Amino acid sequence: MKAATGIALLGALLAEAAPTDDKRDVDTRFPYLGPAVPIGDWVDPTINGNGKGFPRLVEPPAVKPAGPKPKNNVNVIQLSYVPSGINLHYQTPFGLGAAPTVHWGTHAHKLHQTSRGSTNTYDRTPPCSEVAVTQCSQFFHNVQLPNLAPDTTYYYQIPAANGTTASQVLSFRTARVAGDTTPFTMAVLNDMGYTNAGGTYKQLLKAADEGLSFAWHGGDLSYADDWYSGILPCESDWPVCYNGSSTYLPKPNGTGPADIPVDDPSYADPLPAGEIADQGGAYGGDMSVLYESNWDLWQNWMSKVTMKIPYMVMLGNHEAACAEFDGPGNPLTAYLNSNITNGTAPETELTYYSCPPSQRNFTAYQNRFRMPGKETGGQTNFWYSYDYGLAHFISLDSETDFPYSPSYPFFRDLEGNETFPMENETYVTDAGPFGYINGSWKVNEAYEQYNWLKKDLASIDRTKTPWVIAMSHRPMYSSAVSSYQKNLRNAWQSLMLEYGVDAYLAGHIHWYERMYPLTANGSIDAASVLNNNTYLTNEGTSMTHLTNGMAGNVESHSTLPWNETLPITAYLDQSHYGFGKFAFLNATVATWSMVRGVDGSVGDEVTLIKKGANVTTSSGYGQHVQGRSSKWEQLGYN
Ligand SMILES: [Fe+2]
Repeated sequence: MKAATGIALLGALLAEAAPTDDKRDVDTRFPYLGPAVPIGDWVDPTINGNGKGFPRLVEPPAVKPAGPKPKNNVNVIQLSYVPSGINLHYQTPFGLGAAPTVHWGTHAHKLHQTSRGSTNTYDRTPPCSEVAVTQCSQFFHNVQLPNLAPDTTYYYQIPAANGTTASQVLSFRTARVAGDTTPFTMAVLNDMGYTNAGGTYKQLLKAADEGLSFAWHGGDLSYADDWYSGILPCESDWPVCYNGSSTYLPKPNGTGPADIPVDDPSYADPLPAGEIADQGGAYGGDMSVLYESNWDLWQNWMSKVTMKIPYMVMLGNHEAACAEFDGPGNPLTAYLNSNITNGTAPETELTYYSCPPSQRNFTAYQNRFRMPGKETGGQTNFWYSYDYGLAHFISLDSETDFPYSPSYPFFRDLEGNETFPMENETYVTDAGPFGYINGSWKVNEAYEQYNWLKKDLASIDRTKTPWVIAMSHRPMYSSAVSSYQKNLRNAWQSLMLEYGVDAYLAGHIHWYERMYPLTANGSIDAASVLNNNTYLTNEGTSMTHLTNGMAGNVESHSTLPWNETLPITAYLDQSHYGFGKFAFLNATVATWSMVRGVDGSVGDEVTLIKKGANVTTSSGYGQHVQGRSSKWEQLGYN
């Protein structure tokens, strides 16, 4: 990420740059000069592939078409909560010729109600006219069923329209109303994608069958932007390469050309039992070579889950654009900026304009989901909240819309007296802002997201929802120390502590890491640590931090940059894939479990108990962790 130094801004420029509408349009002041359809496969750079080398992956559509050659089809169905209701989101390759419609009711054979919604679309690359009908989504339909009874099963059917096949009669269950004290369990996922996520997927489906209420996915959803990884040469510190068609494809046992840069023996490791082929392995890959097809693949695959239970999402860095960075020799710069296949460029020069317009500024993310930002005073899919029984859940945007956000708004690229950045001053991940910025971009209070968070926290009725859980894609604390963590702490931590958020969840780092409850200066609140697996909540003083970035994904696990975790870390797992389960048992006890994808076993567990609650547990651990903070301070992490 480019340093922010040298960027001088005037207040007047800021006011000019900050948008007032829902979202910033994709900017096209400079032309896109790459291939009409970028394909991450040098051996066969056609959309359909040649059947050799890179396997073209297929997942069944949400609705099985009636005939062998459908002209249109419902490929994805997703449920999400809106206050007192449900949003039914479904996707088709082509339009429906009318407003999207759902027939519904409280009995499977009496779907007497009909609701209609609206359709979004965007100019995706390639369009669905060039992709198999059952594997492509370009029209995104949202039908809301408001004012439903809480905790009630409803049945619905999506009727046939413009060539689609009618869905079966399906069902969903509405959220429990805030204040319902019935125990419930929900799932938390981060950093999933398709590769390495087979175990997580299997255990998540099993949990959904066994009564999981809903799932909450904290960003890095499909890893669509890793489409190009197969055309990048390998590096030992970056496992994403070798898609089975790369000109750098290695051969087993050293039988390949001598210049193959294989210097990491882990590429030869066999895959875990039950996992699908890994792009980091030497024998083939399992990503699509098209950005949009990775989205289609992941969403089709996930439909088994997302049509069974509500699936709440937020954005991560992998949702921003078609690429984040280039590899050795800069083949992506040559390809996207100059349409040179299998070439090199002297420098990395990916800009905002390197991606096709439809693959910038979170466009796919904005269209392919429907979260309740509008209904909760937040911002579309970017920040919003929702209640379920005893808990209030807050989704935040860790990529844009706070001071020093990882994705830059254009005004942070400006030099001198410019009012718009030049092409070469922009970055491929530039995005947003999606809310207002009234005042200096360096000040929390100027941001709509911050003001919304404050208002949302202040509005919570803790007698109804005693549990408050917040999540964004990026952690505030991690043993993989990075500067963005300080920016996130500066943006939100004091508000969250002031209003008594019980736990802050994140992903981004591809491992599982549980911290002790932490105070405002990042020290352990030792008095709240009853034992290694039991913490007291401590409103106004500390909250628990969990990094849960191990659902899967093509980039594989993160590894500890040094041999020791930070002293604030209670547990670190760098080897298992899986997801988190949060069980809210009553107003004073909630238990978090790390579920391993490989066999469903629990890898870690922590119970949170409300301070002052009359609950018996073994104690004495607080003294053990006292004094650990001194090393934390030595690291200069604050
Ligand atoms: Fe991430």
